[in-house]
Amino acid sequence: MILLGLLLLGTLHISTALDNGLARTPPMGWLNWERYRCNTDCKNDPYNCISADLFLEMAKLMKYEGYADVGYEYINIDDCWMLRDRGADGKLVSNPELFPEGIPALADAIHSMGLKIGIYEDYGTKTCGGYPGTKDHIEDDVNLFASWGIDSLKLDGCYCNASEFSTGFPAVGAALNATGRPVLYSCEWPLYEYRETDKIPYAEIAETCNLWRNTEDVQDSWASVERIIEWFGDNAGNLASYAGPGNWNDPDMLIIGDYGLSFEQSETQMAMWAMMAAPLYMSNDLRTLRQWQKDILMNQEVIAVDQDPMGKQGVRVYQDAKKKHEYWSRELADGSYAVVMYRRDSSGLPKPYTATFKQLLIKTKTAHVRDLFTHLDLGVYTDGITATLPPSGSCKMFKVTPIKSQF
Ligand SMILES: *[C@@H]1O[C@H](CO)[C@@H](O)[C@H](O)[C@H]1NC(C)=O
Ligand SMILES: *[C@@H]1O[C@H](CO)[C@@H](O)[C@H](O)[C@H]1NC(C)=O
Repeated sequence: MILLGLLLLGTLHISTALDNGLARTPPMGWLNWERYRCNTDCKNDPYNCISADLFLEMAKLMKYEGYADVGYEYINIDDCWMLRDRGADGKLVSNPELFPEGIPALADAIHSMGLKIGIYEDYGTKTCGGYPGTKDHIEDDVNLFASWGIDSLKLDGCYCNASEFSTGFPAVGAALNATGRPVLYSCEWPLYEYRETDKIPYAEIAETCNLWRNTEDVQDSWASVERIIEWFGDNAGNLASYAGPGNWNDPDMLIIGDYGLSFEQSETQMAMWAMMAAPLYMSNDLRTLRQWQKDILMNQEVIAVDQDPMGKQGVRVYQDAKKKHEYWSRELADGSYAVVMYRRDSSGLPKPYTATFKQLLIKTKTAHVRDLFTHLDLGVYTDGITATLPPSGSCKMFKVTPIKSQF
């Protein structure tokens, strides 16, 4: 009887996860927040304010510089796009200084490039930036977004109590569903209580949201990226089980191309986001990226790990006692594994490290190993992988294909 109950519960968990047909693999695109924040000052800073021009420019570069070809698709607007007050009719109004022709015109232009557009709101009485929140206006706001042709909604949780999330986020989700327009639903639900992971109702969140932001906002620094990876490593056992086609943990934006990451650290963010089956939303200036930054962001072998159709999130499988280096492993649909060996300490020379297949939870004696950043087949390895890692947040990422035992 108990066993039957457990089996039913298991089935229930899977069958009630949100399925609006979207985000069968983690979504990819661009989101303005980390790089541009709430910069509405187009008079003094026209090049960097969050105007229609900025979003269109990013859409064009995404389309014509190859990002779209490798999967980047969404252009997402974050907070501060509105006027401080609703219109006389109660509707949200986009700031005409930022969007002179309105959001629908921007949506049309983005759609005509074969891309998608996302927008931002907040469940509370105000957004985090102090603009009108959606509380008491849910249906009107969501219907407005659908009528504008919006493809994705990021819903924040400022200016309300976390105790209201369990009713608020599902209410907005139901209203989105009722519009009949498929809208990817990204929820800032867990992050407000992320220090008390046990309290976060992930099963409930997965019933409502395509994506959920687990941790603090990413900032433009290696320390921030390192902290997020650490948090996911510590909590992966709990989180990873809720990830899969249609539902993803969200460690926040890629900051590759900004000011905070070295070449090695940029590779590590890309590798680790792929291991975590994370949404790949860049927050950077596509107008000024260097070639090596583009190469990392468009590394198709790493993207293929992120986009693996089985959608099984990778986990940290080993960390040394002093937290100086660690290994992650992710099972892929074709029976192979993605592996990251990541070194954190900043002391001294590049050094060799060995990850055994056993540590990596790969049941094999021998395997083909391919380096996903150098794009080289390294040959057949026995028992494990030895790789040289420089200090300060570097990694190696491999695809490991076990050789079936020859009896
Ligand atoms: C949150 O709840 C507390 C206690 O019920 C209340 O005093 C406070 O005003 C609420 N805050 C918001 C933003 O609704
Ligand atoms: C609404 O929800 C139903 C049931 O989960 C789902 O089949 C359908 O695709 C959803 N529609 C939209 C537009 O999200």
